[in-house]
Amino acid sequence: MESPFKADILRGKVALVTGGGSGIGFEISAQFGKHGASVAIMGRRKQVLEAAVSALQSLGIPAVGFEGDVRKQEDAKRVVESTFKHFGWLDILVNAAAGNFLVSAEDLSPNGFRTVMDIDSVGTFTMCHEALKYLKKGGPGRGTCGGTILNISATLHYTASWYQVHVSAAKAAVDSITRSLALEWGSDYDIRVNGIAPGPIGDTPGMSKLAPKEIDGKARESMPLYNLGEKWDIAMSALYLVSDAGKYINGTIIVVDGGLWLSRPRHLPKEAVKQLSRVVERRSRDTPVGVPTSKL
Ligand code: HXC
Repeated sequence: MESPFKADILRGKVALVTGGGSGIGFEISAQFGKHGASVAIMGRRKQVLEAAVSALQSLGIPAVGFEGDVRKQEDAKRVVESTFKHFGWLDILVNAAAGNFLVSAEDLSPNGFRTVMDIDSVGTFTMCHEALKYLKKGGPGRGTCGGTILNISATLHYTASWYQVHVSAAKAAVDSITRSLALEWGSDYDIRVNGIAPGPIGDTPGMSKLAPKEIDGKARESMPLYNLGEKWDIAMSALYLVSDAGKYINGTIIVVDGGLWLSRPRHLPKEAVKQLSRVVERRSRDTPVGVPTSKL
């Protein structure tokens, strides 16, 4: 789909995207590049990174890939520094790296829980921490304006989600980090920190783990996950938040799920509500005050 934004809204900007080799992270990288940004992507898998960088470059996007694991502080530091050295400055950090698998709480080992917390929550904080010196106003290669951070979370923790105790907890922490850093770094360093909470997005590693193709069609349809969004939807919100269109937005987490997390089973058909409501109103109008309805 064509972008509704002008092609130069990120002209001259440099973005570093963790998890930029695939899924939502790759689409954000590609759309940032198509709108004028130079892009560094970080990931653990060399081949995936190389393929993603080639794909970005074939679109005419200045792109580079750096291998690294967000769980390792030395990797985070090295990749942020390498991005700075390669492009000369850093404007945007996107934390899209994440880990997930379906597992019941009783079958999840504490180490499995910790692994996802480490990737999603600690990894997000570590990347922000290492990028701070380059993103803050007056930092190397920067003028008087700070840069911006975008953290990708989820809606799982707004209610409760089956077989996702680890990811729900990790994404809740990510949202909390977003708000705290928006407060502290917005005030001190002119850095805007925002988030996107995607719903189920088609054609992503996340969906292939949460709704694997082995689940048969009927069961799949009854899962609340089947109403899918597109990676493009997330990337457009990302563009809005990191560009000047979002210059007064700080500490906000935009839910991009088509309203799915609000959905509830409909307990009455619409026609029944219309009729029932009139009956109830008439009854209350005709009932003398203080007389219990059971006595009428
Ligand atoms: C139960 C599991 C498990 C599974 C791993 N573990 N997979 N437990 N069921 N399916 C446990 C292991 O037994 C181990 O605990 C611990 O987790 C660490 O496992 P490792 O394999 O050693 O970890 P590692 O190699 O570091 O791999 C991390 C990973 C992996 C998260 C397990 O899947 C990964 O690298 N994922 C990155 C890509 C990814 O998941 N993308 C999807 C993101 S989607 P023990 O106790 O045995 O030592 C997403 C969307 C969220 O985030 C929101 C959607 C709505």
